[in-house]
Amino acid sequence: MLAGMSIPSTGPAIHVRGLEKSYKDLRVLRGVDLDVAAGSIFALLGANGAGKTTIVRILSTLLRADSGTARVDGFDVATQGAEVRASISLTGQFAAVDQILSGRENLVLVARLRHLREPGAVADGLLARFSLTGAGARRVATYSGGMRRRLDIAMSLIGSPPVIFLDEPTAGLDPEARLEVWQAVRTLAEGGTTVLLTTQYLEEAEHLADRIAILHEGRIIVDGTLAELRRLLPPATVEYVEKQPTLEDVFLAVVGAKGRDRG
Ligand SMILES: Nc1ncnc2c1ncn2[C@@H]1O[C@H](COP(=O)(O)OP(=O)(O)OP(=O)(O)O)[C@@H](O)[C@H]1O
Ligand SMILES: [Mg+2]
Repeated sequence: MLAGMSIPSTGPAIHVRGLEKSYKDLRVLRGVDLDVAAGSIFALLGANGAGKTTIVRILSTLLRADSGTARVDGFDVATQGAEVRASISLTGQFAAVDQILSGRENLVLVARLRHLREPGAVADGLLARFSLTGAGARRVATYSGGMRRRLDIAMSLIGSPPVIFLDEPTAGLDPEARLEVWQAVRTLAEGGTTVLLTTQYLEEAEHLADRIAILHEGRIIVDGTLAELRRLLPPATVEYVEKQPTLEDVFLAVVGAKGRDRG
């Protein structure tokens, strides 16, 4: 492969090998490997401080890894930062929307900044896609948390980046607002966008993700589909109805087993 050449789109949208990152003595990432298929939803699960945001920051070129490789949409995050940035959008934990403007004005503003033709039409299309048409003319200050997050996700779609990072997209939202955001994320993936999201909610990964990875003590200790993760546990027990293990059962079993390994 020639340096600077992009990998054909048939490869994984995100490809990470041996990623390491320390903050002084704190070894946060100790060799992270992961692959995210194009057009899929990948959930990165981990406790507070596990290093989820650190991975997202490295993949979005905001932070440099100490070692290892990472490619996003075929581009190397270390040597092709501009190409990576053109291929992604990042939605952090706190909505980046302007409260004084209306939802529609926020969208038009970003569409203008990205030099899109017909920013008004782009805005209206996204409002419709995220069920915000009725609220489009209202100031964002009057939106609920769920509406703001949906608008934030809609804004991140302007310019149609093939890869989207959502860092804890539903942190602090009530159950109804979480469902709304989940629907918005599904809409993204149905449109062919690759989504890498981080979450501390096992339930979120369970409902949303095609593939789930658990980050623990600097490494991905489990990576698979929900069905594969469930197979890590003994078979479902039969009571009156068959009870499948939840992802929480799997998480506790795996993390607990790792803890015991080290004595
Ligand atoms: N700039 C920094 N300087 C020093 N330590 C840092 C820095 N950024 C993160 N850390 C530490 O690295 C570890 C991983 O942080 P990170 O934000 O990646 O975790 P996280 O999995 O996203 O956690 P959360 O679920 O709370 O968002 C934490 O212990 C954090 O304190
Ligand atoms: Mg974080």
